[in-house]
Amino acid sequence: MKFAHRIQNLKPEGAYRVMGLAQALEKKGRDIVHLEIGQPDFSTFPPIAKEGKAAIDAGFTRYNPSEGYSDLREAIAHYSEKRGIAASPSQVVVGPGAKPVLLFPLLALLEKGDEVLYPDPGFPSYRADIEIAGGIPVPVPLVEANSFSFDLEALRSRITKNTRLLILNSPANPTGGVISNSDLQEIAALARKHDFWVLSDEIYSRLVYDQSDAESIYALDGMSERTIIVDGFSKSYAMTGWRLGYAIMPNALAEKVSLLLMHAVGCTAGFTQRAGIVAIEQCDDAVSDIVKQYQLRRDQFVQGLNQIDGFNCRLPEGAFYAFPNVSEIGIPSSTLAERLLNEAGVACLSGTDFGKNGEGYLRFSYAASREQLAKAVERISSFVSTL
Ligand SMILES: Cc1ncc(COP(=O)(O)O)c(C=O)c1O
Repeated sequence: MKFAHRIQNLKPEGAYRVMGLAQALEKKGRDIVHLEIGQPDFSTFPPIAKEGKAAIDAGFTRYNPSEGYSDLREAIAHYSEKRGIAASPSQVVVGPGAKPVLLFPLLALLEKGDEVLYPDPGFPSYRADIEIAGGIPVPVPLVEANSFSFDLEALRSRITKNTRLLILNSPANPTGGVISNSDLQEIAALARKHDFWVLSDEIYSRLVYDQSDAESIYALDGMSERTIIVDGFSKSYAMTGWRLGYAIMPNALAEKVSLLLMHAVGCTAGFTQRAGIVAIEQCDDAVSDIVKQYQLRRDQFVQGLNQIDGFNCRLPEGAFYAFPNVSEIGIPSSTLAERLLNEAGVACLSGTDFGKNGEGYLRFSYAASREQLAKAVERISSFVSTL
């Protein structure tokens, strides 16, 4: 069968692929520790779930505005203001998850041949979406020694007259790194000088530890007119399956992205949006509680990994991922991840599932119970001692 050029490189996300393999092993009776998929193990917070159920009964089950309910957009604008992001509700576009509002701005902005800089290792949908939208993906390496921020020299050297957009992700998947304010300032200066857009994926902005704060590049001088913030409810409020995300962008672009949503998905489920209002307005304490729990898990897990020969893991500042450097073990990352699943019963991802620069690393999601995390460390440790 002949397919369009724009999808020729599409492949499954590592997390979904490995989850399938792990479940197949479980069907055969194997016990697997699941650290592969990036989703909270907590249930959606009770007030959110209650509001969603009540909203179904109250009839929020019909078509609604493509860009989202106006009161949810207002609540998002208000929440963003508290983060230093001055945006009007008309700049907020709601979608079924962060994923569609990541793709649609690219579809709205990219012409064939436009170059898009993106982090490598980085969330796999970036490269896929750039290609679907007809752009040319230009990976920019992240550097472990710089808290997994960009190698700024490498970033500068990749900017050309065709650079149309740069994707940022802080706190980051898969590294857990947070971009420092001084790096953000330099990146913003480059965007202004070379006149390109910045798409800043801030879906993990509420999950930061050790008093770190994930600032938004949107708040820096001259950036609001060239920045698209992508955010969502999946990670902070344990709402992955509800499908609720949003993006903030200049009004003219918001109108175009709303049209793309109208034609591609119609709208976001009304009851999901009602639940989202409760999440954003009433769940700050619940979020603080889970952040504390993730931090305890992070500390326990990273300390455990660092006691294993050949594992060197930085303490991630945000998100819920550990990204240990395993290059000393001397086995390609994808083989090591495969062997950990098949021989040790620990499901994790190869760093190369996030791009070529992920070679030498593994990604573990520590959004799992402390017992499961302890079991994983024990299993990895005894597996490594047999090598
Ligand atoms: C960096 C990043 N951006 C976006 C998403 C998509 O989130 P959503 O569930 O809201 O579509 C994810 C999910 O894994 C992610 O890790």
